[in-house]
Amino acid sequence: MTLRVLYTGIRRHLRVYMGFTAVPVRYYEIIPKAYRPYRKTGERNYGSRLGKQNVGYVEPVRERILSLAKTIPFTDKHSVFSIADYGAADGSTAMAIFRELLATLKDHHGPDTQFQVTYEDLEMNDFNSLFKRMSGIIPDPPSYLLEMDNVYVLASGTNFYKQCVPSNSIHFMMSMTSVHWLSRTPTTFKYSIYKDAQSSAEETTALNTQAELDWETFLLSRSTELKRGGLLVVGVPAECQDRTTGENRYTLYSFVGLLNEIWKEYSESGKISRDEFVNTNMSTYWRTMKEVRKPFDERRSPVSRSGLTLLSSETAVIPDVFYNDWKEKKDKEGIDDREEFARMYTSAHRNWGNSTFMNGLSNSRSLEETEQVVDALYSEVKKRIVKMHPEIFKDDLKFIYIVIRKE
Ligand SMILES: C[S@@+](CC[C@H](N)C(=O)[O-])C[C@H]1O[C@@H](n2cnc3c(N)ncnc32)[C@H](O)[C@@H]1O
Repeated sequence: MTLRVLYTGIRRHLRVYMGFTAVPVRYYEIIPKAYRPYRKTGERNYGSRLGKQNVGYVEPVRERILSLAKTIPFTDKHSVFSIADYGAADGSTAMAIFRELLATLKDHHGPDTQFQVTYEDLEMNDFNSLFKRMSGIIPDPPSYLLEMDNVYVLASGTNFYKQCVPSNSIHFMMSMTSVHWLSRTPTTFKYSIYKDAQSSAEETTALNTQAELDWETFLLSRSTELKRGGLLVVGVPAECQDRTTGENRYTLYSFVGLLNEIWKEYSESGKISRDEFVNTNMSTYWRTMKEVRKPFDERRSPVSRSGLTLLSSETAVIPDVFYNDWKEKKDKEGIDDREEFARMYTSAHRNWGNSTFMNGLSNSRSLEETEQVVDALYSEVKKRIVKMHPEIFKDDLKFIYIVIRKE
């Protein structure tokens, strides 16, 4: 019996035997599965792998966050100062900045001030690791809760393309490396897993249109939730033009290119079907500065009219930590450990990409078979990275940072 049939039965039973009147019930028609954490939850996979890279993404705006946070109006010291992280994953990458932010605000408003920190992410997110981390069961990175009083942590398993917390309730909010995940897959690319030179105008337009709509929806939802004078800081994975080649390159261009190349070979050799290839699409979009700024530059846009004002926008290139580790070992110990570079790189970035490939494969395959195909893909990715020179393979991780105030 499917869950749906079971629920319908229960509802009918309640109506007949308990005299309830029919109440409209809303279901998830399609359970969202574009981004699912890879591996078992509760086992700190994100933080110990991809988190190593992502923890540095906040660095370019760290100082700005700490100084601007003190300007957020908070006059009633008996009320609660509210902080939220959108697309928080397992809380590992925000731990250090939130510790500093809380310490700064406690210093500024007094040690008795109460704080509420809300970690928002999708319903399938690894909240289990988040809470284990907050309580210290997972000790790394150390939890600020273990050394601070009057800080209360909550989680919101929702969807940041909707309102997630009550209106006018948050003082400071942040979202790092998350808004490139779209609310839905707007198109299927015939010849690739993400737009590339072979994509048709229709495919590219569908992607751009969805990305523009989602960006506006994200900002309007946050605008409703922000208090007046509150701040929103977003780190947006970006696409920029290469100064020397003129080519448009986005964050993780080499890695996505390699995934695409091998998946295409799988389709050509019959390991996966042509339909499976076409159905594998990354529901992501790397934005340009112009696209990020558009809702703010247009003074009559719904976002501008909602009271959001751009305080700053800047681009930064973040070092590739796996490349740096490889280089340090080579320079200091004379060991050219490309095997380790490939292993770290692949296991980190499998965290965000695994579900894309699982979703693309046909439902007629068993779960075991599906997992075997995706395991083989990532194992091949690793093998090919070993054969490449890290100097050539490594990616510049391009980001756009925007700081916004609600007027
Ligand atoms: C690459 S992780 C970034 C996590 C963390 N902010 C960081 O910087 O390391 C992207 C996160 O965005 C979340 N995400 C994607 N789409 C989302 C949505 N519509 N609503 C909420 N979270 C979403 C994913 O579940 C994932 O945890």
